[in-house]
Amino acid sequence: MEPIEFDRALSSLLSEDDPLRVRFERWRRFLQRELTFSHSESVCHTTEHVERVLLFALLLGRELKVSSDDLDALALCAVFHDTRRHDDDLDVGHGDRAAAYYREYASAHGRNVDDRVERIIARHDRHDRISEEKFRKEGADDETLLLYRIFKDADAIDRFRFGPKALNERYLRTSAARNLLPLLRPFVLRLTGYEA
Ligand SMILES: [Fe+2]
Ligand SMILES: [Fe+2]
Repeated sequence: MEPIEFDRALSSLLSEDDPLRVRFERWRRFLQRELTFSHSESVCHTTEHVERVLLFALLLGRELKVSSDDLDALALCAVFHDTRRHDDDLDVGHGDRAAAYYREYASAHGRNVDDRVERIIARHDRHDRISEEKFRKEGADDETLLLYRIFKDADAIDRFRFGPKALNERYLRTSAARNLLPLLRPFVLRLTGYEA
């Protein structure tokens, strides 16, 4: 089946004047204009994947009523998370490299580094048990753990780009992801040509 266009599909989720759409477009422009990808010939971790993860992170964040600053923190996690991959396998360590890129970028552009964002990016390629244990040992607050879980669910939902059975929904971490799945699953499947 032919994949459908992203912008046409996006309008089915968010109207053009929806403030979340405006925020999404702002971060999408940032991603396209400012960031570089080490594994630019990637077939699985493309900018299209990153754009969808950005969109889902914002949608889940809104569903869970996170603050405006936290929506931007989620957006930062999304746009940077796969920028420093070396390959399309698990590539454990691409989280640390992407986190370093985030820190360098923020410093070079005179922006504050959000430690939560840096740590979420760094740990997104490890098992939840290991990552969450690290957060807890550091005394991270509930808000940081929630942002980590939202971001991980946003990345997980895009597994449907590999097909209708590519995500075991029991492993989703947030109620928002479970609530929005009936909307987001067909969104990914249509965009990637698995469903009409
Ligand atoms: Fe990743
Ligand atoms: Fe990803």
